[in-house]
Amino acid sequence: MSKTESKMQFGSKIGLIAATVGSAVGLGNIWRFPAEAQSNGGAAFLLLYVVCMLVLGIPVMLAEFSLGRAGRSDAFGVFRKLSPGKSWWLIGVLGIVASYTITCFYAVVTGWTLEYLFHSITGSLYEGIAPVTAGGDFSVADAGFQAKMAEYISTPLAPILFTWAVILINMFVLARGVEKGIEKLSNILMPMLFVVLIALCCVTLTLPGAGEGVKWFLTPDFSKITASTVINAMGQTFFSLSLGMGTLITYASYYPANTRLASTSGIVAAMSLVVAVLMGFVIFPAVSSFGLDGHSLVGTTLVFQTLPEVFACLPGTQIWSILFFALLFMAALTSTVSIIEVTIAFVHNKCRISRVKATVLTVLPLFVLSSLCSLSFSTLSDFKIFGMTIFDLLDVFATNILLPVGAIFICIYLGWCAPKGLLKNELTNGGTIRSRISGTVMFIIRYVAPVMILMVLVAPLFK
Ligand code: PHE
Repeated sequence: MSKTESKMQFGSKIGLIAATVGSAVGLGNIWRFPAEAQSNGGAAFLLLYVVCMLVLGIPVMLAEFSLGRAGRSDAFGVFRKLSPGKSWWLIGVLGIVASYTITCFYAVVTGWTLEYLFHSITGSLYEGIAPVTAGGDFSVADAGFQAKMAEYISTPLAPILFTWAVILINMFVLARGVEKGIEKLSNILMPMLFVVLIALCCVTLTLPGAGEGVKWFLTPDFSKITASTVINAMGQTFFSLSLGMGTLITYASYYPANTRLASTSGIVAAMSLVVAVLMGFVIFPAVSSFGLDGHSLVGTTLVFQTLPEVFACLPGTQIWSILFFALLFMAALTSTVSIIEVTIAFVHNKCRISRVKATVLTVLPLFVLSSLCSLSFSTLSDFKIFGMTIFDLLDVFATNILLPVGAIFICIYLGWCAPKGLLKNELTNGGTIRSRISGTVMFIIRYVAPVMILMVLVAPLFK
């Protein structure tokens, strides 16, 4: 195998699973899931999420895996190769635009996690905030951490510098290529993430009064289930499994020919679910133990305000804080790497330039674009387009529109227009293994998934 080829494939089965799980497990599982679960009926939302994963998530993931491995190219090149002379490559363009847009704001939030990790290590996050005992009055600590959040996120310079640090780390990892960069990073960070998460769980589950939180999380409140809960669960499934924008197409193009796609998708979905559930076991017992149940667990304040309050009450505050923000940073980093890779792979193939050059070319504009996103919380907070800050606009546009539209077209293409037998061929590794699910998966991709995703897409119009 030549040097360039070796960069274009994952080197081991564990490595490709770590990288794909690394892409899936990110801010979506760690902060979005608990917030969604809290406002959508706890275990009832969890059940829906599991159903959505089985019925929609895994089939769409298999669609992306199959296209990527059959086409062995980037999100754009796959469609050009599989259907030359047709316009299906536009799906790839859509994916690349989505991934680039998501990178701009995802890098900013990843920067915040790094900033909080930094301030946890120096201890300044907890400076000047008197710890509260369980059940006590949290209003002073509340105000304290709110002020810290404003200081860390809503000043112009510091968050930009941390965002740049995130982009530089990404650049360094991605320039090293698939096996030596992405795979190596995931092989190190993913096991660490699970260890830290389990350690945090052990602490929160043994807090006095933790049982109440666990009970709340595991008792489904079906009265909270409405059409919009179902739609939220579908949206959560897509985001948390990295579907709809060619990330998994790109990663699967680096899968060896003998990779079993069906079992890989099952493992990735299961791991993503396990992280979300473990995160529930961290958050709900902790907030119930400290009497913070009344707090609404909105994503950002949950992670950057409520949890520091919990850590401030624990013995070993700084250690837990460092572990948690390190966990969040690891999860976010392996996701950013996968999002940026979509564009790098495209630039590398399309412009026929080296991997390093493609990385630099892709990453450079991100320094400016993500800075603009970051300034949405300070200097540019009054600058609104369609009533939204740049950050919110990119988030809403990419997550709520580009991802579902991308997923619908991926399903339509594979279900109706791709070369015949492509899915079955990929699920059976060219007929060398048996696949009992290819018929069901095809049925879902043709009929069920496009309709259901369309519902996610148009639902906000009827709110
Ligand atoms: N799955 C990632 C998360 O849960 C986000 C992501 C979305 C990554 C789309 C890649 C593509 O945070």
